[in-house]
Amino acid sequence: MFSFGKKQQTTPVTLDPNRIPAHIAIIMDGNGRWAQQKHRPRVFGHREGMETVKRITRHASDLGVKVLTLYAFSTENWKRPDDEVNYLMQLPVDFFDTFVPDLIKQNVRVNVMGYVDQLPAKTQKAVRAAMADTAQNTGMVLNFALNYGSRAEIVTAVQTLAAQAATGELDPATIDEQKVAQALMTASLGEYADPDLLIRTSGEERISNFLLWQIAYSELVFTDALWPDFDDQELEAAILAYQRRDRRFGGIKK
Ligand code: FPP
Repeated sequence: MFSFGKKQQTTPVTLDPNRIPAHIAIIMDGNGRWAQQKHRPRVFGHREGMETVKRITRHASDLGVKVLTLYAFSTENWKRPDDEVNYLMQLPVDFFDTFVPDLIKQNVRVNVMGYVDQLPAKTQKAVRAAMADTAQNTGMVLNFALNYGSRAEIVTAVQTLAAQAATGELDPATIDEQKVAQALMTASLGEYADPDLLIRTSGEERISNFLLWQIAYSELVFTDALWPDFDDQELEAAILAYQRRDRRFGGIKK
């Protein structure tokens, strides 16, 4: 694995435009620490993190990324103090209120994966409206993981397949990787369901229940930058690290 820090931002990077990862997934970490460093409440970091989402969405779309998946709220994040959870549930409302016109201009389509029905009504309304308002867009998919957890996703998929087997609709012997993938929340992303590149900010090097099935062959890049500081150069540095990797998918180099 390759880690880099903010110092490398000054290094000129030349990306190969023909090898931009089609699907980039990001664990946006470090909002709280960013705010703490500035002696501000944690939610101040989340607010700034939302601005980073806007910048990185624009840049990823300009670079030709097909799917950008952002881990915005996990099924475990409900354990945080009520005030913080309430703030995080308001953020998508504010984000889409201010950013949908830009997303339409950029031809970006919004998708949300996760247990949306369990979100507060205002959050559900905002995400459903954003998906409907951008449904005709044909460019990058901005895929928010909201109330998402990978183990829960896998459990739901197993329940779906087991229910089909119980009714006789599905022969258990025919369950293969493709059928499992089809039962996951990323199925609607089609050929781009699996991230090529997974980035985690803030210096933490773990996966935190994110896309466990889908990242089987993803390249992992960890950066020390806190999410509010993650900028266009950081994204390009992560893509450059990806382009320097030798992806073999279990095979050998030709
Ligand atoms: C992790 O940082 C971040 C989150 C749990 C929330 C991520 C949300 C955003 C970046 C804003 C989302 C924007 C939209 C549009 C939905 P942390 O709070 O765990 O940071 P820490 O590890 O420094 O405490």
